[in-house]
Amino acid sequence: MQNCCAVVLAAGDGKRMRSAHSKVLCPVLLKPMLGWVLESCSQAGISEVCLVVSDEAQEVLQILPTFFPGCQTAVQKERRGTGHAVRAARAFLEENRGKSVLLLCGDAPFVDRATIEGAFLRHRGDGNAVTVIGATLPDPTGYGRLVEEGGELLEIVEHRDADGETLAIHTVNSGSYWFDCDFLLEALEAIEPNNSQGEYYLTDTVAIAVKRGRRAGAYHSENPNVALGANDRKGLAHLNTVAREAVLDKHYAAGVDIPLTDGILITPEVVIGPDTTILPGTILEGKTVIGTGCTIGPNTRIRSCTVGDGAVVESSVLEESVIEGGAKIGPFTRVRPGSTIGAGAKIGNFVEIKNSVIGPKTSVAHLSYLGDSDVGRAVNVGCGVVTANYDGANKYRTIIKDGAFIGCNTNLIAPVAVGEGANIAAGTTVTEDIPPGALAIGRVRQVNKPDWATEKGKYKKR
Ligand code: UD1
Ligand code: CA
Repeated sequence: MQNCCAVVLAAGDGKRMRSAHSKVLCPVLLKPMLGWVLESCSQAGISEVCLVVSDEAQEVLQILPTFFPGCQTAVQKERRGTGHAVRAARAFLEENRGKSVLLLCGDAPFVDRATIEGAFLRHRGDGNAVTVIGATLPDPTGYGRLVEEGGELLEIVEHRDADGETLAIHTVNSGSYWFDCDFLLEALEAIEPNNSQGEYYLTDTVAIAVKRGRRAGAYHSENPNVALGANDRKGLAHLNTVAREAVLDKHYAAGVDIPLTDGILITPEVVIGPDTTILPGTILEGKTVIGTGCTIGPNTRIRSCTVGDGAVVESSVLEESVIEGGAKIGPFTRVRPGSTIGAGAKIGNFVEIKNSVIGPKTSVAHLSYLGDSDVGRAVNVGCGVVTANYDGANKYRTIIKDGAFIGCNTNLIAPVAVGEGANIAAGTTVTEDIPPGALAIGRVRQVNKPDWATEKGKYKKR
């Protein structure tokens, strides 16, 4: 977008959330509300953005590199209303004289690119000093009302300051606006705190424009959720429900089977192939891509993984890994970052895999830990096998070649390599490399002492 910049308000203290943290960091589908707003700015192609924060905004500033690198900031020292907050960005506005300014609230996450662009065309086309992005809500409680007459916007009246007739209006202020930058600078000086809350309301700029003979307009977005904001926890839960249902609808349309939606949370960027079934209690997030014909869940969390066609993942936690087609994971498996589970492999209950490659058709079925390991194809890892990959200072790799058989309760003291087709007897602690095809056995020889227990009186028939 040419000749545009944006100011995003995020200094509110969020009293109604009753939280020690900033309201704009409250998550909608696991992403801070402010993150949604900043991403919409970049999607709309706005590169100059100034975020208004309070002077205790460390936490808020920390998310900027993720969602909008290069975002400028301005500090609002006291919380005296939205108009007062924009005044804090005066230096930024002075630098952007002659441009159009998009104004967004950090607590209204669903403002979208199409709305921003549509409102901008109207704003420029009509030569407005201010264009308010409005929406019609079945329940407008708490929102500012747009008072319009013959298609002209006259003023915005806050819920708290509205009379009965105004409260009956269902068209509300979404909290997003386009301003002519020079007009905004002028109008900010004219706002007075003469309202029920004693605050400087940004919304008063509309009446100021009308009074000064400038045009004020309302752009009615096609997105019914554009105005939805969260001021308290219940509102936040509602935003999550709205966002969650939109994501589920997209997957239903794409042929994904989600027979029961209980406890299912899928973040917007996740991709799922048709004929995959997602079962209750499943959270899919990050850059996750799931193939076709998989069964995922119940009670599974997958973050930033690629899961191949036909894989089954039950009651497990998977992060930043690749699960190839037809693999079976779980129940109760943890796959930590940097792992690849090969096609058709089976990783069973109470198994943890970290930063390891597990070859195709390999089975690690019970109670094992494989860390920093390269395991070949068709390896059988018995119950209770542990790689000792860490000596307290450094980590070392374990290599297990194709077709090896690792007996139960084997300890592999890395760095160590097991040759192709080698066998390890149960209970062995492996400290030296094992040649291909060999048997390694390393355990204390058993001695039986006849009648020892009976003579000591340790065993009595009951
Ligand atoms: C505001 C609008 C209302 C609109 C609603 C949409 C005003 C006066 N009212 O009301 O018309 O329907 O948004 O969601 O603008 N903030 C600051 N500093 C402050 C006060 C607020 O930075 O001193 C920030 C908050 O962090 C928030 C945004 O401004 O991101 C909106 O503030 P909030 O108090 O939530 O306004 P609403 O009462 O929701
Ligand atoms: Ca709000």
